[in-house]
Amino acid sequence: MSESTGSRPALDLEAFPPSFAWGTATSAYQIEGAVAEDGRAPSIWDTFSRVPGAIDNGDHGDTACDHYHRWREDIALMKELGTDTYRLSGAWPRVVPGGDGPVNKAGLDFYDRLVDGLLDAGITPSVTLYHWDLPQALQDRGGWTVRETAEHLAAYTTAVAERLGDRVTRWATLNEPLCSGWIGHLEGRMAPGLTDLTAAVRASYHLLLAHGLATRALRAAAPGARIGLVTNHSTVAPASDRPEDLAAAARMDGHTNRWWLDPVYGRGFPTDMRELYGVELPEKPGDAELIAAPLDWHGLNYYFPVTVADDPEGPVPHAREVRLPDVPRSGMDWQIDAGGLEALLLRLTEDYGVRELYVTENGSAFPDTVGPDGAVHDPERTGYLEQHLAACARAVRKGVPLAGYYAWSLLDNFEWAYGYDKRFGLVHVDYATQKRTVKTSGRRYADVIRAHREATAG
Ligand code: FCB
Repeated sequence: MSESTGSRPALDLEAFPPSFAWGTATSAYQIEGAVAEDGRAPSIWDTFSRVPGAIDNGDHGDTACDHYHRWREDIALMKELGTDTYRLSGAWPRVVPGGDGPVNKAGLDFYDRLVDGLLDAGITPSVTLYHWDLPQALQDRGGWTVRETAEHLAAYTTAVAERLGDRVTRWATLNEPLCSGWIGHLEGRMAPGLTDLTAAVRASYHLLLAHGLATRALRAAAPGARIGLVTNHSTVAPASDRPEDLAAAARMDGHTNRWWLDPVYGRGFPTDMRELYGVELPEKPGDAELIAAPLDWHGLNYYFPVTVADDPEGPVPHAREVRLPDVPRSGMDWQIDAGGLEALLLRLTEDYGVRELYVTENGSAFPDTVGPDGAVHDPERTGYLEQHLAACARAVRKGVPLAGYYAWSLLDNFEWAYGYDKRFGLVHVDYATQKRTVKTSGRRYADVIRAHREATAG
């Protein structure tokens, strides 16, 4: 079911429990800047952003939103929006610059200050350990294609949890392993920029193993931790009811959804996909149990649905994305369909038995400009936000145990291969001056949060 941009469905705010957590999300490389400060070493994104043609306009994260220096101002913005929680990621190359080995105290000090600042402002931090910025030193030794990288993630996790675990309880191990695995190693559009099926399948395995090892490390270092995994998904529709297209949709569903969920929820890696990839998994006894270690919550990142047709000659999974005409689209050219969010929340609940869910990312990019009045009017993003919150409310009414929603993103930021041109923020950033301006969508989000508090108070 799609809803057109700009329509204003009434928001059923009473569907959300009084404890519902309203948040915003960012990630380290996309906002921090300060890439060579206080002992931080390069990550694969510092390297990839120097590859000619890899990033639109030759952009990179050297300065980004300068959040490393402006975090106090950014916490003040969260307070202005009235959010309860903030999802941030730790930069592995700041904390363990060599990937393994010595911990950089100055790197941990930054997150320590940030966490204290958030708590002082009454905002609950949610810390993701890995949001794609692998230390380059580990990439030089094979990156995610080798097992040791998963073990090193666990050691870095221990260092962060020992320092912050007395104050942070909401933790996620990985953000969107699909993007690291498939987009980084198979499609080549993200760091490290490989196009190699064997490398991609091995990386996907080691990423999920890293999730399991990091979960174990968190449980040991921070006994009060509530641990989740953040995965991104799309609903997949066949382009027609031809058997070939139905089979292509099933393969794409396996590639996008089942491969990343089945092993985590105790079903192992899907057999049909193992056969399709034809790459031996680097399995060892005990891995399956580690990967399926019980979690406290699951984080869903949702942006768009996909429609696919059979494509026997095309790359794995031999399913070609079909661009539907006459459907609403964001500035990323992604189809807008809030029904997909509702469907995926229901699937995680009913099919995978998840008992606590967060929408850990959801949002849209549009080409915003600061108007002559100094304001940023973004009715399309406001519409997207309202439609997706309405979808969350419907899901909750149907029994989905949704505990919170994080808008992507607090700030406009470095949108990976698209650089700074794609703006996802509820707050506009003028990169020349670093001036922040809350957009109309941010104001609307603040109104929703306030109205929900009023509706559920007492
Ligand atoms: C997700 C990423 C996030 C951001 C949004 C738009 O895939 O997790 O960092 O780039 O997309």
